[in-house]
Formats: sequence, structure tokens, C-alpha cells
Amino acid sequence: MASIFITGGAGFIGSQMAERLLAEGHSVVSYDNLVLGKREFLVAALRNPRFRFVEADLLDLDRVVAEMKGADLVIHLAANSDISQGAERSDVDLKNGTIATYNTLEAMRRTGVRDVLFASTSAIYGEASVKPTPESYGPLFPISFYGASKLACEGLVSAFTHNCGLRAIVFRFANIVGPRATHGAIHDFLKRLKANSNELRVLGNGTQRKSYLHVSDCIDGMLYARKLHFDTEKKPPGFFECYNLASEGVTRVSSIAAAVVDEVTRRMGTRPALVFGSEDRGWVGDVAFTWLDGARFATTGWKARLTSDAAVEQAVRDIARQIWGEDA
Ligand SMILES: NC(=O)c1ccc[n+]([C@@H]2O[C@H](COP(=O)([O-])OP(=O)(O)OC[C@H]3O[C@@H](n4cnc5c(N)ncnc54)[C@H](O)[C@@H]3O)[C@@H](O)[C@H]2O)c1
Repeated sequence: MASIFITGGAGFIGSQMAERLLAEGHSVVSYDNLVLGKREFLVAALRNPRFRFVEADLLDLDRVVAEMKGADLVIHLAANSDISQGAERSDVDLKNGTIATYNTLEAMRRTGVRDVLFASTSAIYGEASVKPTPESYGPLFPISFYGASKLACEGLVSAFTHNCGLRAIVFRFANIVGPRATHGAIHDFLKRLKANSNELRVLGNGTQRKSYLHVSDCIDGMLYARKLHFDTEKKPPGFFECYNLASEGVTRVSSIAAAVVDEVTRRMGTRPALVFGSEDRGWVGDVAFTWLDGARFATTGWKARLTSDAAVEQAVRDIARQIWGEDA
């Protein structure tokens, strides 16, 4: 069994990754400064003696080095996941994305931890002219500070891999949805409708389309690749691989809004009116149409359990339970 160090381990994906690894018998250290993560997401993990939570900042390199010692694998999930924040605070992605990633990789170099899984994003493609977009698409011109930071991080992961003998797998995630989501369209729509079930005003005209992936499939895909390349194939130091991590298809924001309205009608007995905006995107930096090509990862034999539409439907139920206080 391995000792696994998760950055962003109190977040939406990180806390569920920790629970999954604990269930598989591994030991887990979750390192998170709780800027976006939540202590309540760690309740189940904290009951396990193989789990340790470190509340600290990745910008504190000495602390990262001290806490990472002895790990077999780093799963680097920490970042500023609130993309729209970048438009107001242009240094938040630089610090919690790029510098935090540099510190994570530098701590690996100093402690001799060799293997890393890194959470990148479809946002690095910017407004790609090829859809579905494969990993080989370029040149890469992100349109958000978040996407720019993730692209820089991919470069750092690649450089550390080749210079310091790390083994790395980079995953360019689709939009991840499911329980414990703290932002995103489904969460935002449900929260607003719980407060006022008469009307839902949607940012943008509803034509935005994106690839969605359920969090359970996201975790499954990452651990599948880790097992394949690091354990089974035993790739040598310097190994670097990059995959789009997505399900089949894309889902329109108008379909998400309709699914949310159905769920709220079922719960509250009144049907909210849907009002769309006139813009073709939700906010500055939002990519209105993303469609990830998952064919490269599929060649390894992996397939998401849920399509994009099914992931959204499942997540509407998951997140509604959370917002109505029916889940821990
Ligand atoms: N959720 C998605 O749709 C999605 C899509 C593409 C990529 N990603 C990436 O996946 C990863 C996990 O995303 P998530 O949705 O779970 O987000 P999240 O915000 O729930 O988790 C990120 C965690 O990182 C922590 N963090 C941020 N800055 C830190 C710092 N300086 N030091 C220590 N901890 C810090 C936050 O407190 C938070 O708990 C992120 O890197 C994100 O960019 C997510």
C-alpha cells in the first residue's frame, strides 16, 4: 500500500479522492489551506487512522517539503478553481496555480518523491478551432488567467519530469460535476432557486456547450492511468504523459437549466420560470464551447461510466441533496 500526498485534499475532488484511496487501503496526507476547501468534506476521512490533514499553504515551500517527506505519490489538485475570480484579481492564479505548482514539484525534487498526477483543464485550449479538441491541438492560447496558469503548470511538470527524473501524468479535465461541488452552473442554479424558486436567470443565452464528467469517473480515470503507467508498465524516470479526461458528448447550459428546473419543481411544487441573458458566454474568460476529444485515453482501455448528459443529470440530484441539507 502506498503513502499518497494530495494537494487541495479538502476540496471537491481532493476530498473524494482521499476517501477512495483510504478505501483501497492507502495512507493519505491531505494538504490544503482551506481557501476554497472545507473541513466538513474531511469528516469521513478523519475517522480513518491512515489519514492526516495538514492545514497549510502551498506557498510555504519549507512546510510542503516537511509534510511531503516519505510519500510515494503526489496527486496535485490544489489551485484557484474559481475561474471568474481571475478577472478581478489577476494574481490569484499565478500564486495558487503557478507558484503553488512550482513549490509542489520543487518539494518533490527535494524529498525524492518521484510520481505525480496533475489536474490540468480544458481551459488551456482557449477558444480552440478544432472540436472535439485533441491533446495535439495548438497553438495554445488560453483566454482566462486560470487557463494561462494551468498551461504554465503543464510546462513546469514537463520540465521537472525531464530534468529531475519525475514520472508525471497530466490530465486535462472536462468540467467535473457531482457531490461536494462548490461552484459551477448546477451548484449556482440550485442555490439561487432554493432562495427564490420563482425564476432562474441564466448568465448567457444558454447555448454554451461543455464536456461534463462525473467526479467518480474523474477519480477513476486518474487512478486507472496511475496503475497502468506507474505500476503495470513501470515507466522509467522522465516519463511524461498527457490525456484529456472526458466522457462522451457535450451538454448545453439550457439543458442543465432545464434539468435543474425539473428537480426544483419536484422538490418545491412550483415550476420556476427560466430567463436567459443575451451574451454567448457566462463571464469574461468563460469558453462558450468546449468539447474534449477523449480518444487518446480511450486507447488505454478506459471509458467513463456516464456520458456528459448522464453526468449532469446525476450531479443535479447529487448537488440538490447537498444544498437541501440531505447529505453530509
Ligand atoms: N472542478 C472542475 O470542473 C475542474 C475542471 C478542470 C480542472 N480542475 C482542477 O482540478 C483540481 C481540483 O478542483 P476542484 O474542483 O476540486 O476545486 P476545489 O477548489 O474544490 O479544490 C482545490 C483546493 O485547493 C486548495 N488550495 C488552493 N490554493 C491553495 C494553496 N495555495 N495552498 C493549499 N491549498 C490550496 C483549496 O482550498 C481547495 O480545497 C484543481 O486544480 C482544478 O483546477 C477542476
